[in-house]
Amino acid sequence: LFVGEVDFLKGVVAMDGLPDADRVEVCFAGRSNVGKSSLINALTGRKGLARASNTPGRTQEINFFTLGQSHYLVDLPGYGFANAPVSVVEKWQALLKRYLAGRVSLRRAFVLIDARHGIKSVDEEIMKLLDTSAVTFQAVLTKADKVKAKDMDKVLAQVREKLSKHPAAFPELVLTSSEKGDGIATLRSIIAGLD
Ligand code: GTP
Ligand code: MG
Repeated sequence: LFVGEVDFLKGVVAMDGLPDADRVEVCFAGRSNVGKSSLINALTGRKGLARASNTPGRTQEINFFTLGQSHYLVDLPGYGFANAPVSVVEKWQALLKRYLAGRVSLRRAFVLIDARHGIKSVDEEIMKLLDTSAVTFQAVLTKADKVKAKDMDKVLAQVREKLSKHPAAFPELVLTSSEKGDGIATLRSIIAGLD
């Protein structure tokens, strides 16, 4: 499903720009700079597909990628970055809320968590939104290559404890490194298995 079958479809800035809800859809949510675009690039094996950058808030649209004939991968705008104008942030939040609450074809949200930091309060906000929208979500730890094995246990314990409080949380989490490739095959098979 993931080899040679992926393309950028469009960037969406308003609800009426969404493509028809006629494919299995998964989205990637997470704080700005957590590694959403890098993860999509790693999953699809296409380095330049989703823009990845050091500039927080670079991905400002809801970006749709087609995967084969059956799936959409959706790169959501990052949340929780400090230096964007309030009006801009509010507009994105409103769009994000409407998308998450109203998208019938959305099968799962992957909530990306920086493995160095664990779950922060802005992550809790999005998880609450997913709970109330009844969108099953799964935590994906990113940048695992930056965390020493001895520190990872603590982060995992914190993440598991917090996830246990969220009714929409899928209990298994995935540890990934877009840099080293850890967890990428696992995540591919999770996505391919959704229908
Ligand atoms: P926004 O679009 O701004 O919300 O950011 P994003 O979540 O899409 O993050 P992006 O993929 O652009 O990555 C942000 C930075 O983290 C880039 O400098 C990436 O190279 C780096 N990065 C992403 N994933 C990994 C990883 O697995 N390991 C390491 N070491 N760095 C990573
Ligand atoms: Mg991005």
